[in-house]
Amino acid sequence: MERRTLFAPSVLGADPLNVSAAVDSLAGGFDWLHLDVMDGHFVPNLSFGPGMAAALRGRYPEAFIDAHLMLDNPDSYLSAFAEAGVSHISTHAEAEPQLLHGRLSRTRKAGLKAGVALAPATPVEWLRHVLSLADVVLVMSVTPGFGGQSFIEETLEKTRDLARLRAVEGYDYLIQMDGGINGENAAQAAAAGCDVLVMGSAVFGSPNPAAYLAEMRTLIQQEARWKC
Ligand code: DX5
Ligand code: ZN
Repeated sequence: MERRTLFAPSVLGADPLNVSAAVDSLAGGFDWLHLDVMDGHFVPNLSFGPGMAAALRGRYPEAFIDAHLMLDNPDSYLSAFAEAGVSHISTHAEAEPQLLHGRLSRTRKAGLKAGVALAPATPVEWLRHVLSLADVVLVMSVTPGFGGQSFIEETLEKTRDLARLRAVEGYDYLIQMDGGINGENAAQAAAAGCDVLVMGSAVFGSPNPAAYLAEMRTLIQQEARWKC
């Protein structure tokens, strides 16, 4: 079955003093806009909050805003990000795991897409009993916390497992990969079953981000062989 790969440039890779200029440089050629939210506890870095999400929503009213919460206490922030107008919230399975089931339900009840993220060392089995509640499963392909790291090859195995489970059990979540994705591994990720590619430094570090995204789409079409 042919699936369309979605591209989600990560604002974390943009010049922090010129975020809107960076997003504008994509010339609308993105599918989702990925916003990394970090609390300095769950990950050793700080980034954006609901104010940034609201500002992006104000400036890009039609955009699918994809908030990736890397927070110790994601439950406490669901409402703030929903009110800020994001389209999708993904939270980590490692954060408040005892609340994960309810968190996914609450996110959906708020009218948003609900995602669950896994750090590289967390097994897919952790999600076994919540997969029917997930619109997106985010497979982190670097240790969460920073842009510009190298892609961890072993995480492709998790993507393959999730794609297999989806096919066998009839789930309909999208698989998203995030971290270290560029022209070297994007087609591999897509071939493993990934539907949404997050790209920070590769896109925003390129001299022409819109052309880079277009190039990635062509690359995927030419090289990816769907297996699910
Ligand atoms: C890392 C973030 C990523 C990051 C990706 O914790 O979740 O979204 O922005 O950036 P690159 O593509 O540079 O690895
Ligand atoms: Zn992210």
